[in-house]
Amino acid sequence: MVSQFINKVYLVTGAASGMGLATAETLLKLGARLALCDINESSLEKVVDELDSEQRSRTFAQVVDVTDQDAVRNFLEKTKLRFGKLDGVANFAGTGGHGLGSEPIWETCAEEYEFILNLNVKGLFNILTKALSPGFLAQGASVVHIGSMFSLQGFKNGAVFAASKHAALGMVRSAAKETGERVRVNCILPGVIDTPMHRANLARVKDFTPTPTTPIPRSGSAQEVAEVTVFLLSDESSFVTGVAWSVDGGANA
Ligand SMILES: NC(=O)c1ccc[n+]([C@@H]2O[C@H](COP(=O)([O-])OP(=O)(O)OC[C@H]3O[C@@H](n4cnc5c(N)ncnc54)[C@H](O)[C@@H]3O)[C@@H](O)[C@H]2O)c1
Repeated sequence: MVSQFINKVYLVTGAASGMGLATAETLLKLGARLALCDINESSLEKVVDELDSEQRSRTFAQVVDVTDQDAVRNFLEKTKLRFGKLDGVANFAGTGGHGLGSEPIWETCAEEYEFILNLNVKGLFNILTKALSPGFLAQGASVVHIGSMFSLQGFKNGAVFAASKHAALGMVRSAAKETGERVRVNCILPGVIDTPMHRANLARVKDFTPTPTTPIPRSGSAQEVAEVTVFLLSDESSFVTGVAWSVDGGANA
């Protein structure tokens, strides 16, 4: 697989932590050139500082809030200027919100609704409206969005999060129908994945058990999601578009 990534350029959002970071690290090991962004400046700086000089020479990193449409557009354009082309985008920037697992819908305030929808849905909209415009991405490019196992089922005490992940999957599937062979657009649906976000939920909510029983009864690792993301970004998946690809230990089986 290594050689096909040498001439590839990918953009990863939410790259300073969790699954986005694992994906960025994997793509760098495979030889790709990367544009990394995150809203968390200090974490992003740390990620770049820890790269070796050769990897740093293939990396362009910038603080970007994906909810800011102009900032997203500028970063996509700058990436193309820097590397001459863009072969794909992996969008990991997202949130579970502040009350995931503890707040029923009747206790959820409008500000929380706006926060979650703005990041998990409008963030994706901001990326797709620019990235999928004809001629922007390379022919045959690939966009991968990170949904959730709750893109396909309800989440008790997580209704707005589940709604945002359902909406994003609908946007991905529709976009895949619009772009056809020009750009493949797919959605990964992680189950419970051991990342800083998941650990924060565990610390906040006693008995945080989104999936009480799964065929593979453990949490997944960020690397297990990164491997599927890299496959969907790569030419190895050239006939795969519009899919909702679960990486959830069978939680949606
Ligand atoms: N961890 C899980 O169990 C799990 C399960 C299902 C889905 N997900 C989804 O996977 C995605 C990645 O989650 P993770 O667990 O790796 O989380 P994480 O918190 O470890 O990483 C998310 C990164 O996104 C960044 N980010 C947040 N808001 C941003 C913004 N406005 N603009 C740019 N960057 C922003 C954060 O700073 C962070 O670095 C999210 O969309 C999350 O909803 C996570």
